[in-house]
Amino acid sequence: MNLQFPNGFSWGAATSGPQSEGRFNKKHANVFDHWFEVEPESFHNQVGPDVASNFYNSYKEDIKLMKEVGLNSVRTSIQWTRLINDFETATLNQDGVDFYNNVIDELLANDIKPFINLHHFDLPVELYDKYGGWESKHVVDLFVKFAEQCFKLFGDRVSEWFTHNEPMVVVDGQYLYQFHYPKVVDGKKAVQVAFNLQLASSKAVAKFKEVNTNPDGRIGIILNLTPSYPASDDPADQKAANFANLWFNQIFLDPSILGEYPAELVEILENDGVLFEATKEELAIIKENTIDILGVNFYHPHRVKQPDVSPDSLRFNWMPVKYFDNYDMPGRRMNIDRGWEIYPKALYDIAINVKENYGNIAWFVAENGMGVSNEELFQDETGVVQDDYRINFIKEHLTELHKGIEEGSNCIGYHLWTPIDCWSWSNAYKNRYGFIANNIHTQVKTIKKSGHWFKGVADNNTLEI
Ligand code: BG6
Repeated sequence: MNLQFPNGFSWGAATSGPQSEGRFNKKHANVFDHWFEVEPESFHNQVGPDVASNFYNSYKEDIKLMKEVGLNSVRTSIQWTRLINDFETATLNQDGVDFYNNVIDELLANDIKPFINLHHFDLPVELYDKYGGWESKHVVDLFVKFAEQCFKLFGDRVSEWFTHNEPMVVVDGQYLYQFHYPKVVDGKKAVQVAFNLQLASSKAVAKFKEVNTNPDGRIGIILNLTPSYPASDDPADQKAANFANLWFNQIFLDPSILGEYPAELVEILENDGVLFEATKEELAIIKENTIDILGVNFYHPHRVKQPDVSPDSLRFNWMPVKYFDNYDMPGRRMNIDRGWEIYPKALYDIAINVKENYGNIAWFVAENGMGVSNEELFQDETGVVQDDYRINFIKEHLTELHKGIEEGSNCIGYHLWTPIDCWSWSNAYKNRYGFIANNIHTQVKTIKKSGHWFKGVADNNTLEI
C-alpha cells in the first residue's frame, strides 16, 4: 500500500549549530562549551563539542550528502556565540556572518530549504555568569537583539524561522532535574525561566513582524510535545495526566499559539506561591505575537499516575512532580538503548490535538528519530549501517502522521533527527540518530541504509508500507 503525502511536503532532517559545527573560530563559549571545560567527566566518554561533526569545515561536503539522501529541507541553528561579538550591542562577528551566509547559500544551491532556529540550549555562558541567563529579563532583550540581526542578515533567503528548540528542556535540565549546567534545583526559578523563555520567543516574534520583508517569511517555535497518558481511568490518574500535560506541553503551546497561559495552570502556580512575575505589558506582548508555524519534536509518550505521596506533603522546594508520578506501563515497547518508549500513535494524537485545540495551525514534525548505541555493530562488509530498525521506526511514525493528515491536520513536513550523526550534549556520541554515519575519529561520513531508503520516500512523496 502507498501513502501519498501532500504536495510540497517538507522531507527533511534537523540538527543544531552547537551539535554539528564544532567550536572552530567561535569567539564565545555557550553553557555547554563551558561545562565541558570545567567538568569533562560529565560527558559520555569525555567527548566534548570542540569538533562535533566538523560542519564548520565540511559544510559543503555534508550538504552534498544531505542532498543524496533526498532532503528538501534542513533545520539547523545559528549560534549566538558565533554570530555576535558583543552581546550587549549585538555587534557582528564577520567570520560568523560569512559562515552562516555560506551555509544558507549552499543549502539553497542544493534545493534544500533552510529552517533556521535561534536558540538550541546554547545560551552564552557570559550571560549566565553576569545575569543568571534566562532568569533575567535583560537577557531576554539581548536575545531579541541577536534575533533581529539574524532576520536582517539572512531573512532575504530564509523564510522558516524558529525562536527556540525545546525551551522546556532548559527549564527541566537547568533548573529542576540537573541534566544541564549549572544544575540548579529551584522550582520557583524554573517557573520564572519558563516565562522568560516564552517572553523572549514572543518578543522575537514581534521583532520579526517589524523587520521582516520576505513575503514568504514566517516564524514559530519548536516544542518537545510529550502527550501525557494516564495509567488508568481512575480520576486521580486522569488528574495527574492533566497536570503533566499543562506543565510539559501547554505551558509553551498555549501562550505561543493562543497568546495566553492556561488559567488552570496559572491558578495552581499561584496557589503554590510560585507564579512567575509578569507585567501587563509583557502579557500583552505574548497575547499579540503568536506564532505562524509550530515545530513538534516527538520521541516518546509520557505515562503518568497519581502521586504516591500527597501533593501537600512537606517539601522545601516546589517541584512539578508533586502532582504526578511517572508510570512504567507493563508491556510497553521500548528503545532499550535510549530508555524511551516507542509509541507512534502519539503522533496521530498530536496531529489531532493541534487540529482541534490550536486552530489547525501549520505544523511539522521537527524532530523524530531513534538513538541507537554501538551502531557500528550493524555495519555490513561494505561499511554501510543496515539500520532496518530505523526504517521501521520512521515508517510506523509516518503512517500515524499520515492518518492525522488525512483527517485534516495541517502538517507540512517531517524532519528526522538528524541528517549526520552529531554530538548530543552530555550524551555526546553515545546514541546515533542520523541518516548518515559519522566516524568521529576520522570524520568519514557514510550514508546508512535508512538514508538511501528515505531518498525514495522523499522523491516520490510517498511511503510504501
Ligand atoms: C532532542 C534535542 O531532544 O533530542 C537534540 O533537541 C538532541 O538536541 C536529541 O540531540 C537526542 O538526544 P539524546 O540525548 O538521545 O542524544
